[in-house]
Amino acid sequence: MGKTTIIAIAGASASGKSLFASTVYQELVAELGGNGIAILAEDAYYRDQSHLTFEQRQLTNYDHPSAFEHELLVQHLEQLRDGQAVAMPQYSYKSHTRTTETIKVQPGRVIMVEGILLLHDPHLRKLFDISVFMDTPLDVCLLRRMTRDVEERGRTIQSVAEQYEETVRPAFFEFILPSKQFADLVVTRGGQNEIAIDLIKSKIRQLLAE
Ligand code: C5P
Ligand code: MG
Repeated sequence: MGKTTIIAIAGASASGKSLFASTVYQELVAELGGNGIAILAEDAYYRDQSHLTFEQRQLTNYDHPSAFEHELLVQHLEQLRDGQAVAMPQYSYKSHTRTTETIKVQPGRVIMVEGILLLHDPHLRKLFDISVFMDTPLDVCLLRRMTRDVEERGRTIQSVAEQYEETVRPAFFEFILPSKQFADLVVTRGGQNEIAIDLIKSKIRQLLAE
């Protein structure tokens, strides 16, 4: 196998990172089969909080870099790059901690990873060959987050609004937006930008054919 290419997809919460990455991944898997491409989520590397009570876990700031075990993500990306499979943790937004299961991720020619604070961390940045930033307007992100967190993450409208004001919005301006300067590509409209999805797919096809 040739050199591994690691593609990072960053941007605000609910900016379309997960949709963008999974669309690229699923369409390429349907076309070429799953060999050679792997996908990881930064959210899977939220710190394990199983030793804390649910009430204590609710106090964590999930938008601060300290909430993530980036050391483990760095280690896993290095292992994948070196041709070794890794056990990616699984995370539950409802219980605010890791589940007991892990997912085995096989190494591949191309590794995609998506998450809010990937480009903020210099250790992670060093590993990325291609960095993409989802530049979706914040009001669009907030509307999506409201619906998603109520429907899929067990939240109330009031709790989403409070968390947004207290941590999500401040962290966007403190950590996420300044990290846009490290992106190679800036994508508007997030997971719905078919041109950008096509461009990344072409790049990956080319890498897989090398
Ligand atoms: O998918 P997305 O990028 O939106 O996921 C990151 C967001 O998940 C963060 O903005 C954080 O506030 C939220 N989160 C949460 N509860 C957790 C873990 C993350 O609300 N337990
Ligand atoms: Mg996501």
